[in-house]
Amino acid sequence: MRKRVMRLACVLALFFALLCGVIFLPTDDRRQAAGPLKSELQVGVVLYTGDDAFLNEMMAAVRKEIDDLNTGDWDITLVERNAGNSQSEENEIVSDMINEGCDILLVNLVDRNAPARVIETARENNVPIVFFNRELVRNDMGLWNRLYYVGGNAAESGELQGELAAALCESNPGVDRNKDGKIQYAVLQGEPNHQDAIIRTDMAVSTMADRGIVLDKLSYRIANWSRSQAKTQTLQLISAYGSSVELILANNDEMALGAIDAYRQMNYTETDMPKIFGIDGTSVGLSAVADGSLDGTVYNDKEAQGKALVNIAITVARGGDLSAMHLTNGKYYYADYYAVTAENVSDYLKQ
Ligand code: GAL
Ligand code: CA
Repeated sequence: MRKRVMRLACVLALFFALLCGVIFLPTDDRRQAAGPLKSELQVGVVLYTGDDAFLNEMMAAVRKEIDDLNTGDWDITLVERNAGNSQSEENEIVSDMINEGCDILLVNLVDRNAPARVIETARENNVPIVFFNRELVRNDMGLWNRLYYVGGNAAESGELQGELAAALCESNPGVDRNKDGKIQYAVLQGEPNHQDAIIRTDMAVSTMADRGIVLDKLSYRIANWSRSQAKTQTLQLISAYGSSVELILANNDEMALGAIDAYRQMNYTETDMPKIFGIDGTSVGLSAVADGSLDGTVYNDKEAQGKALVNIAITVARGGDLSAMHLTNGKYYYADYYAVTAENVSDYLKQ
C-alpha cells in the first residue's frame, strides 16, 4: 500500500514539474514547444489531362516548391485533379474545389478558348486563379483583375529549335542526303489551336529560312503532343516518303520520341534516318539526347514555371505585392527556354 502511494506521489510530482517547465518557459520557447505558427493555405490544381508527360514532370516541380515552403512557415495543402480532356468536367472540378475550401486555384485549361465559366465561378467566390501552360486570349484575361498566367515564351522555343536544326544542317552537309541543296522536312504538331504548337512551328521554320537553309516541306501532321500518335503519323510518313525525309521538327519531345519509335520499328539505321528535334527536355527526352537518338531539344523550364506558380499563389493569397516578380502587364510570367544538345545535356540531366 505504502509503495503504491509513493509511486503515485512520484508520478504526480513529475507531472507538475513538466507542467511548470512549460508554463515558465519564455514565450518564444513555448511557441517552439507547440510548433511554430504556420500560414495555412489550400491550393487547388487541375490539369487538362492526367496523361501529359511534360505537365506531370512540372507538377513534381510544383510539389517540391510546396514541400520546401512547408518546412518553413507555411502549411500548404495541394489538392490535385485532372479534367480528362473535357472542359465541362474541368468547370465542375473548379466549382468543387472552391466549395471544398481552396483559397486559390492553378488552372491548366482544357480549351484555352473557353475559360468563361471557370472565370465566372472564381469571380463569384472571389478565389483568384493562376492559369498555366495553355494560354487564354488577352480579352479573357481582362475579365477580372485576379487572373494570372504562367507559361513559356513559345516564340523563343521555336526559334531555338530552328537554330539547333540550322546549325546541324550547316555543320553536317550529310543531312541533305539526296544532295539537292534542300532539306526535305516534316513537322509533328501539338494540338491544333494550342499557342505552343502554332508558334513553335512558325518560328522554327522561319528561323531556319532566315539562316539561309532552303527547306522543302513534305508534310505537317498533328499528333496532339502524344508519343503513340506521333509514331502512327510517322509510320504513314515513312510509307509515303520512305527515306527521303531528312529532318523532323517535333513540337515536343514525346512526339520526337514517337517518330524515333516508328523508324526503329521499320528497322531504319542511323544513316537512313532523318535528323529529329524536340522541345521540353523531359527526362526521357534528355536521355535520348544523351544517347544520340534525338539530335537536340529545347528545355521548357518546368522548375522556373513551378516556382512562379507557387510564388504568385502565396503572394496573391496573402494580399501581398507581386512587383518583385516583374510580371508582364502585372499578370503574365513567361519562362525562358534553353537549347540542349549532346554537348550540354549533362547540365540538364542533373536538375
Ligand atoms: C507544351 C509542352 C507539351 C505539352 C503541352 C500541354 O508546353 O511542350 O509537351 O505538355 O504544353 O499543354
Ligand atoms: Ca535534300
